[in-house]
Amino acid sequence: MSVLSQRPANAIVGQEMPHEAANLHVTGAALYTDDLVGRTAGTLHAYPVRAEVAHGMVTKLDVTPAYDVPGVVRVLTGDDVPGVNDAGAKHDEPLFPTEVMFYGHAVAWVLAEDLEAARKGAAAVVLEVDPLPALITVTEAIKAESFQGARPTLERGDLDAGFAQADHVFEGVFEFAGQEHFYLETHCSLALVDENGQVFVQCSTQHPTETQDIVSHVLGVDAHEVTVQCLRMGGGFGGKEMQPHGFAAIAAIGAKLTGRPVRLRLNRNQDITMSGKRHGFHASWKVGFTCEGKIVALDATLTADGGWSLDLSEPVLARALCHVDNAYWVPNIKVAGRIAKSNKTSQTAFRGFGGPQGMLVMEDILGRVAPKLGIPAHELRRKNFYTAGQTTPYGQEVRHPERIASCWNQVWRDGELDRRMAEVQDYNAGHPYRKRGLAITPVKFGISFNFVSFNQGGALVHVYKDGSVLINHGGTEMGQGLHTKMLQVAATTLGVPLDRVRLAPTRTDKVPNTSATAASSGADLNGGAVKDACEQILARLEKVKADATEELGWDDLVRKAYLDRVQLWAAGYYRTEGLSWDASIVQGNPFKYFAFGAAATEVEVDGFTGAYATRRVDIVHDVGDSLSPLVDIGQIEGGFVQGAGWLTLEDLRWDTSDRPSRGRLATQAASTYKLPSFSEMPAQFNVQLLQDAHEDGAVYGSKAVGEPPLMLAFSVREALRQAAAAFGPEGTSVDLAGPATPEAVFWAVEAARANAG
Ligand code: MTE
Ligand code: MOS
Repeated sequence: MSVLSQRPANAIVGQEMPHEAANLHVTGAALYTDDLVGRTAGTLHAYPVRAEVAHGMVTKLDVTPAYDVPGVVRVLTGDDVPGVNDAGAKHDEPLFPTEVMFYGHAVAWVLAEDLEAARKGAAAVVLEVDPLPALITVTEAIKAESFQGARPTLERGDLDAGFAQADHVFEGVFEFAGQEHFYLETHCSLALVDENGQVFVQCSTQHPTETQDIVSHVLGVDAHEVTVQCLRMGGGFGGKEMQPHGFAAIAAIGAKLTGRPVRLRLNRNQDITMSGKRHGFHASWKVGFTCEGKIVALDATLTADGGWSLDLSEPVLARALCHVDNAYWVPNIKVAGRIAKSNKTSQTAFRGFGGPQGMLVMEDILGRVAPKLGIPAHELRRKNFYTAGQTTPYGQEVRHPERIASCWNQVWRDGELDRRMAEVQDYNAGHPYRKRGLAITPVKFGISFNFVSFNQGGALVHVYKDGSVLINHGGTEMGQGLHTKMLQVAATTLGVPLDRVRLAPTRTDKVPNTSATAASSGADLNGGAVKDACEQILARLEKVKADATEELGWDDLVRKAYLDRVQLWAAGYYRTEGLSWDASIVQGNPFKYFAFGAAATEVEVDGFTGAYATRRVDIVHDVGDSLSPLVDIGQIEGGFVQGAGWLTLEDLRWDTSDRPSRGRLATQAASTYKLPSFSEMPAQFNVQLLQDAHEDGAVYGSKAVGEPPLMLAFSVREALRQAAAAFGPEGTSVDLAGPATPEAVFWAVEAARANAG
């Protein structure tokens, strides 16, 4: 056990606690950024002027008519940018564009006394755009060779030799959709300027430091003139890792120019049509198997549909390449990656960050070819698991590969898969119009940012004279329970009861140079930093204790330390050791460890409609020694359902016609974009944490949990495939669309039936 991972007796980490703000969430008392508007006098409201064409050049922008609208105070255009007119980290995202890059792109913003006046002002602005040809789908972009950014290739072994060993070779193409984040709280920023011209931006952001960077670049000021605070988010899911920056910058420019607070909050329709989503991918592949079902070679090309600008597409693609293998040993492999540039929103981080897309390609391959090999899909998967000593295609050893099998076996046992698989067969034999499927899939997910520099965290811990503790750390709270865990870590390290510790909102002037709360590493990084800060304070208190003539309780010890002039606060820091990554050759040791899991799902499909229900889900997931078991189980349940939404329900449709509405997102609201709800929840949902799962490399033996469980949902998709196949003869291989909506399942059923013909 490492010093970092070792737990003291009676640790508060590991105890079941509700989310630290659960009461506030469920009573509506929790404050989100937009709730501050009512508490901020004189706030102006921002509304975008948007182009209704997928691609084109702005030929005229006349803002004067907006000023005739009562209540309009100021219209912001590119001329108002004091610094750099760019909202991204790659300098390919003009904040005020002259070239419209996607349908609904904002070219100017109107500030007014109220939102309605701002809306009317925006409608009064005269905007003319000369349309240009637009690429909407990823296949159109590929055909036009419209790519952006790096084109990395992951390679290991010898493909030719691999295919020469293969008894069976299969080829396929698979294009699958992205996903809308649909966080409940849409993008929101509130910017204020103080008497010295310093800017304070309250923002719903996963990455306050980068919001600060972009705001300061756009304003042309130093970072120390801009402070960003994030109270909490009503969900981020990756959608607020990069995308808030431009909106925050608009609010900040407005505040600078008018001297008044400026609020920019997107309504749902604006949020869904203006902000980036999960990348849809196009994959073409060729795979070789031995007759025993061992994978010997994989040759694939993955094309991420990046949308109009790079945003996080390069790291998303890198993570996709690093997860094509999922839990399987692939001795000879070559996967080429590229990023399509298309006229859509700029696609971005979304829970799993490319990992799900990479893994989906492999799971889809295995699901498709298993019947062709005459091997049950679960057996085919099981056969190819990593074993001790093997390395990933990017050269990292897979530590604890036996945990894949441990999770799997426990799901098998507790999910009673032997019995239930037989029952499914009986059921299918007796029901010509309804079929069931039961599938089990594994997850292996790498934890740490691929970009090594991001793997650092900071914290600021104050012990006040009365013994109460206030902690601040660089991570943001988006519902995932990071703050709950950090309170538990601080209380554990200091050895004080939980109610002596309070947590203050994330601010860039408290902890600087933070990384995004992303890559599931929030607790690893900030937990390490909180622990470090607490240990510094403890070490000083030890000396005070040694000098004391009597045994002192915490409060008295702290009091004495203060009187003895001993510093009672500390800045903590943590960096993840042992990481390396060369993005250009896609090689290194990018991950501190892997999170593992397995899930089995049973579905029932109606052959007349393709409609389906999820009957039962069994999950065993590896969170190390859990920091906070209730929080972790919530993350597993939520991640799984969100993954099932992506794979089976949520259907982003863009207008691909040649009408003027080409490129318009047709699914702009909850009415047309189907999210998982109570009716899609599994009737039976059993989630267990893998026991005896200590992780040496992370704070108090824990593992990250935020993203990996999303990929447990492959089991839903594979169960649907198997149920659809059951409508055809034995050995039917089913191609399933992504997402496998009821409609897509219906067509898969039809194809399976035709197979019988
Ligand atoms: N859980 C909730 N409730 N809301 C969220 O927005 N985001 C997910 C995950 N779980 C999210 C969530 C994503 S994309 C990540 S990367 C992690 O939480 C980030 O938090 P962590 O690093 O503290 O796990
Ligand atoms: Mo999560 S996609 O890394 O914000």
